[in-house]
Amino acid sequence: MKFNYTNLIYQDNLKEGITTATIKNSEKICQKAHQEILKDRKNNILGFYDLPEKNVSKILTYVKEQEGKFDDIIVLGIGGSALGNSALYSALKVEKSLKKNLYVCDNVDPYLIKEILSKINLKRSLFNVITKSGTTAETMSTFLIFLEILKKELPETYKNHLVITTDKEKGFLREVINKEDIANFEVPDNVGGRFSILTDVGLLSSALVGIDIEKLLAGAASMKKKCENSNISENPAYINALLHYFYMKNGKNISVMMPYSNPLYLMADWYRQLWAESLGKKNDVYGNKVFVGQTPVKALGTTDQHSQVQLYVEGPNDKVVTFISVKNFTYDYEIPFLFQERDEINYLGGKKISELLNAEQKATEIALTNANRPNCHLILPQIDEFSLGEFIFMYEVQTVFAGKLLDIDPLNQPGVEAGKIATYALMGKKGFEKELEEIQKSMSENQTYEI
Ligand code: PA5
Repeated sequence: MKFNYTNLIYQDNLKEGITTATIKNSEKICQKAHQEILKDRKNNILGFYDLPEKNVSKILTYVKEQEGKFDDIIVLGIGGSALGNSALYSALKVEKSLKKNLYVCDNVDPYLIKEILSKINLKRSLFNVITKSGTTAETMSTFLIFLEILKKELPETYKNHLVITTDKEKGFLREVINKEDIANFEVPDNVGGRFSILTDVGLLSSALVGIDIEKLLAGAASMKKKCENSNISENPAYINALLHYFYMKNGKNISVMMPYSNPLYLMADWYRQLWAESLGKKNDVYGNKVFVGQTPVKALGTTDQHSQVQLYVEGPNDKVVTFISVKNFTYDYEIPFLFQERDEINYLGGKKISELLNAEQKATEIALTNANRPNCHLILPQIDEFSLGEFIFMYEVQTVFAGKLLDIDPLNQPGVEAGKIATYALMGKKGFEKELEEIQKSMSENQTYEI
């Protein structure tokens, strides 16, 4: 994988922007952040660092046992228990001609459930329930709905159609596993939801559909070596975090990730959660109100050149754009020389469609740079497990390092918890009566108009 951050470093004579001197002068804050990461790893807080060396034999054995039984894998999960699954499958589906279908039910929308039910063949379906806490309302409700359907339609064999990934000891689902003897996997204690793509959370569904998870981990391991380097300019995750940190400080509150390839679009979705939930914080670690974070936005090249790029080039200068492109495409198409006499289109004839795609990426990069809009570029040699493993690991380290620079805790999500509590209250969960009372009081003051 290649990383070009030239367009994040502005010339010294420009009023706005980050210069090479800024990087040199950051040695102290970077070394502090690096030391904190080392300390957290020692204290067993940043378990995702150990995942590249994970032993995947349990997953591979289970997958082998299921061979020939299923065509449809349905993940029931949300947030960190779903986004990585969608991203990996979507990235590799066409590249690897994956034969199995992966459906990710990460919402409690009746239309989504209806759509999944209309597509799957229950007898050839495996439901992969994923929740670290084992209590999340969305996952619990879809689990209950599909469990009832399974019990009704396949009363003798329903358990064979279920596999659960959750905490190894705690939570309601662990009790269900123990009581009903259901196949199960674990989410390690020391890996938070949005950092769990390389645990059983993301690896099991990937292996079930035919993704080479050992190659994925090998890619992560290779990036880990680079991301352990305390020399900031040799550590891609650290340098990118530092530059984004400075831009955040300079009021660039939006981070656009723009892959130039459809399969990578959902990787940007995975990144959105990682960057948003980890860095969007009210308090710093010292208890001061800081209200930091950078809103991640996903865009797709070339599609969004005809939708968003006008805004990126000429609108408020409040964004840092990350392009992701692919060097070698396994599948490609030559644009034919039709209508040769017409200059409007004959320049396209004989070119590969991927050549046009990458030229358009370059063109957008040039337009942004000329307009003084910071941007950087990650180039995957091809879309495969190794590159995706590298990408995932780099962004996980980058996120934690950015959190350290911001002096916030990148691993918690108190804002999400507040919403969960309100949902419990509104849905009548025992123990949340006081919260319900408060909500009802504030809702009675709300007015909704017929319009
Ligand atoms: O990153 C996180 O911790 C969250 O986004 C969780 O992944 C999400 O809330 C789902 O939680 P759980 O896996 O406990 O169901």
